Amino acid sequence: MASKLPKASEKFIEALNAALSEEMASAIQYLWDHILARGLQSPSIADMFKELSMVEMKHGYTLAERIDLLGGVPTTAIGPIKIGGDLQKMLQDNLNAEYDAIEMYRGLVKTAEQANDVVTRRLLEDILKETEEHARDLQSVLGK
Ligand SMILES: [Fe+2]
Ligand SMILES: [Fe+2]
Repeated sequence: MASKLPKASEKFIEALNAALSEEMASAIQYLWDHILARGLQSPSIADMFKELSMVEMKHGYTLAERIDLLGGVPTTAIGPIKIGGDLQKMLQDNLNAEYDAIEMYRGLVKTAEQANDVVTRRLLEDILKETEEHARDLQSVLGK
């Protein structure tokens, strides 16, 4: 009997892999900013970076598991990473990354919808929700 599992197009796998690269970059960026911020007398922001790093890792493995189920190969490539500077700069660099991620996931949700892949769409929507929350948290620390 033919498999009933969904199979994604190469183009969609590629787009999901691009998201996976970004998530892994984000996990590392937050982790290093966590380490650097520990020396900058702001334990609460240092802790926040650590928590965010763990959520980005979760986004990463959620995508990797889904790519695998859809018949693709999860990438080991990691996107560009921007770390360091003062706290303000770290917060702003991470906020910019979250804004980029929001745009990316809005596009991916549409692609999943067009592919009639309701499960991937829901996973992407969950990640998008948390990404919007990260942007909101960073905005409020920055006083925006
Ligand atoms: Fe993320
Ligand atoms: Fe995030």
